[in-house]
Amino acid sequence: MTPILETRGISKSYAGIGALRDVALQVGEGERVGLIGPNGAGKTTLFNCILGLLVPNAGSVWLAGDNITSLPVHQRARRGIGRSFQRIELFTESTVREHLLIAERVRRGNGSLWKDLLGRGRPTADELRSCDVVLARLGLAELADEPIEQLSLGQGRLVEVGRALMTQPRVLLLDEPSSGLDRQETADLAATLRELQEEQGFAILLVEHDVEFVAAFTQRCYVLDFGSLIAEGLTAEVLERSIVRESYLGTPEGPDT
Ligand SMILES: Nc1ncnc2c1ncn2[C@@H]1O[C@H](COP(=O)(O)OP(=O)(O)OP(=O)(O)O)[C@@H](O)[C@H]1O
Ligand SMILES: [Mg+2]
Repeated sequence: MTPILETRGISKSYAGIGALRDVALQVGEGERVGLIGPNGAGKTTLFNCILGLLVPNAGSVWLAGDNITSLPVHQRARRGIGRSFQRIELFTESTVREHLLIAERVRRGNGSLWKDLLGRGRPTADELRSCDVVLARLGLAELADEPIEQLSLGQGRLVEVGRALMTQPRVLLLDEPSSGLDRQETADLAATLRELQEEQGFAILLVEHDVEFVAAFTQRCYVLDFGSLIAEGLTAEVLERSIVRESYLGTPEGPDT
């Protein structure tokens, strides 16, 4: 079956220094796939190449069998690539609902979202309806009119996810969604994501340092180290391999020793 997302031979260097070398990965329809590796391995760089924020030096990006390597960011988004950011990038004075409405306009609009939002004024009934559906689904309905600065970090993460969902992704790229969350918030986020993913059928490519999260959440995973893939396969099996433990977990014996 054609993967929903595929990278072929992606290489990327910054000022001559290689950050990615020949990275090939595939995410199947509705699959949950992990991308792990130590700090600086190139995970965010790969995400940015997939999203269109960076142009790779070599290689190509494919969405549902189409080569999208030369498409701009907003066209990739409209074709179904959704994302959350590694660091929360929300505008603190705007409300939860406003954040989701902006995302909805990205999906429908022509890419110049702020101009569009300011120019077109009030949101349409349709826009408000899809916004309310997502807010309810994430348990954020009561916080809809709160400014972002009033939210906890965990709630902020959910708004990020909500913003991604508004674009109706076919594949969702999550860059360290649990960063800054405590254990319970991480477990809650994982459960919510799992539910939404199974219900709506989109695929997830997850970058995460929390190995327990990766082990519990993903079916397969890839391991990046110094810009190259060093392992891939079923998550449980990959996490057992000594090369993964040594490079990523820093110990040949395993995470708890
Ligand atoms: N804009 C940039 N200019 C120059 N070098 C960069 C830039 N962004 C990243 N790098 C370098 O590229 C390499 C890969 O970085 P990247 O941020 O993709 O790693 P990462 O796996 O996401 O790390 P982390 O787990 O810390 O988020 C690192 O050596 C980093 O220093
Ligand atoms: Mg990163």
